[in-house]
Amino acid sequence: MVYDIVIKNGKIVTASGSYYADLGISGEKITAIGENLEGQRSIDASGCLVTPGAVDTHVHLEMPIGKYTSTDDFLSGSRAAAMGGTTTFIDFVEPEEKESLLEALQKRKAAAEKKSVIDYRFHMTIGPPELDKLDQVPLVYEEGCQSFKLYMAYGLKLNDGELYKALEAIGQAGGLPVVHAENWDIITTLIEKNLALGNTEPRWHPRSRPAEFEAQAVAQVISIASYVDTPVHIFHISCPEAIEQVVAAKEMGHPVTGETCPQYLFLNWDLFEREGVEGALPVCSPPIRSQEAQDGLWAYMSGGSFDTISTDHCPFCRSEKEADMSQFNRIPGGVPSIEMRFPAIYSKGVGEGFITENEWVNLCCTSPAKLFGLKEKGDIRVGMDADIVVFDPEKKKTLSTETLHEEADWTPYEGLEITGWPVFTLSRGEVIVENETFSGEQGRGRYLKDFAR
Ligand code: URP
Ligand code: ZN
Ligand code: ZN
Repeated sequence: MVYDIVIKNGKIVTASGSYYADLGISGEKITAIGENLEGQRSIDASGCLVTPGAVDTHVHLEMPIGKYTSTDDFLSGSRAAAMGGTTTFIDFVEPEEKESLLEALQKRKAAAEKKSVIDYRFHMTIGPPELDKLDQVPLVYEEGCQSFKLYMAYGLKLNDGELYKALEAIGQAGGLPVVHAENWDIITTLIEKNLALGNTEPRWHPRSRPAEFEAQAVAQVISIASYVDTPVHIFHISCPEAIEQVVAAKEMGHPVTGETCPQYLFLNWDLFEREGVEGALPVCSPPIRSQEAQDGLWAYMSGGSFDTISTDHCPFCRSEKEADMSQFNRIPGGVPSIEMRFPAIYSKGVGEGFITENEWVNLCCTSPAKLFGLKEKGDIRVGMDADIVVFDPEKKKTLSTETLHEEADWTPYEGLEITGWPVFTLSRGEVIVENETFSGEQGRGRYLKDFAR
């Protein structure tokens, strides 16, 4: 048998183990794993790791926030993702007040369909206006929205009773709630207090969002979810205090999972002390915290407490970050990470011994795919989509706007040195990145309607 593509001589790394074998690909699928396979095209992976394509389950592409829209659209964002080895992402639908959930989903799908170069799915956001639309949850669930985003902060904030209703409806439909957990009452009180004291600079952003109240919000939503008997996934955990709540709930047998993101694993709040717009750029929520908090997250990572690592990729350009920076609370929140996540977690996580290569693949590929029911993604097995990364563990890269392919005119990782970078990215059997050259066609990405239930 001659396969369309064989990847030869590489070390296959999965969540459950590593071994040397050839990989055979026919059409869009992995069709063989064995020795001495022959292909029409042969990719030599000597010295490289062969991993599943990475899965990023938390991104905001062309997302409107107030008067701004996040900088990467479905084309530039998905292309940058692919350059860094990510082959699937989950973005968000944010319905307008008068729209049905299905109309909103279709609109967002149409936007992605024209542009995305990799496969994708959406979380459905349930804000206050959607509480009157909860009977539509089963309908969009059938259309591929397996997960539903609930905010405990911002204008989209749900109070405890509203959270109760939403969690119950999502749970009854078989969906997975994903939650932005922060204590908004405390945050708004501290923002008001700090502004009244003249504390207007970006350094007051993290100081208005204390870690203990992120932890308290995590505990709060877990207790409501447990009461209505639904699993819950906690987004963008920024501090040890918050992951500790997830750990405690798991120990009590609650089906709770948690993610963190590169900004909390690579950056610290000294960045807010920089002059001018530089201090405003890293504003995101929950905030980037102290070095001690970062070290604590890595310790929890080593202990196996996190289920997934996603990006929360949501950059705004320099001029937008600068426009309203006279008050820290007016700076649009979000940072870019979509391209660097997979290699950077390898570089620091595996390179410095915090996690094994198999845990790296689990956190960035397999576990996110499983959690969100992406049944043909995130693993290397016969029958799975041939979403594959050939990863050179020795390749060095210094991150900067020059070397990354994201649209924002800044990166918080400027100068960060990474060891390990993808050489090939394949999406459903097609080589879309080869030696840092992108070759996929715009719009080739597919909406992933089917999911494991
Ligand atoms: O500041 C952030 N993280 N912006 C993106 C939206 C969110 O809260 O996830
Ligand atoms: Zn959030
Ligand atoms: Zn987000």
